[in-house]
Amino acid sequence: METIINNMITRRSIRKYKSDMIPKETLDTILKAGTYAATGMGKQSPIIIAVTNKELRDKLSAMNAKIMGTDSDPFYGAPVVLIVLANKERPTYTYDGSLVMGNLMNAAHACGIGSCWIHRAKEEFESEEGKELLKSLGIEGDYEGIGHCVLGYIDGEEPEAAPRKDSYVFYVE
Ligand SMILES: Cc1cc2nc3c(=O)[nH]c(=O)nc-3n(C[C@H](O)[C@H](O)[C@H](O)COP(=O)(O)O)c2cc1C
Repeated sequence: METIINNMITRRSIRKYKSDMIPKETLDTILKAGTYAATGMGKQSPIIIAVTNKELRDKLSAMNAKIMGTDSDPFYGAPVVLIVLANKERPTYTYDGSLVMGNLMNAAHACGIGSCWIHRAKEEFESEEGKELLKSLGIEGDYEGIGHCVLGYIDGEEPEAAPRKDSYVFYVE
């Protein structure tokens, strides 16, 4: 148990990656952890698109950068992008997708892989380009982009966590 708690406490958002691809086995382990996140009524509203294809990875990066209004790579050079979307038909879809994101990031850290939540998936998949992409993958349904979990080997040192604020927890005893 101590290992799991320590893993959750020591995970950090990584913003510099090596270009090396992560092994398929490791990727599958991380994805499996994502699919076991709790979901409202167990309805499993999210889906995960696991992108290791460089062409698509670069296209997503460009789409995300455009939304952000920058020219730089919002994925920080990470070779893998896991896009989490969730079906809006479920009232808990945002929470469901966010928990998947949390599982993916914690699982990546447990596997020695760096990760970071990259936002703007909602805008990305509301665009015509995003909708076309889902269609081309045969994904049908009312999906909203929740986030991108980028993955890769860390280039450099892991950052320190910011101190936790004083008023985080209120005890009622
Ligand atoms: C909803 C959400 C959106 C985020 N979007 C981005 C993002 O677009 N780019 C980025 O570099 N980090 C993003 N992050 C990562 C946060 O900046 C990061 O979690 C925060 O600075 C705390 O650092 P830590 O994850 O190392 O504890 C996001 C995190 C969350 C939860």
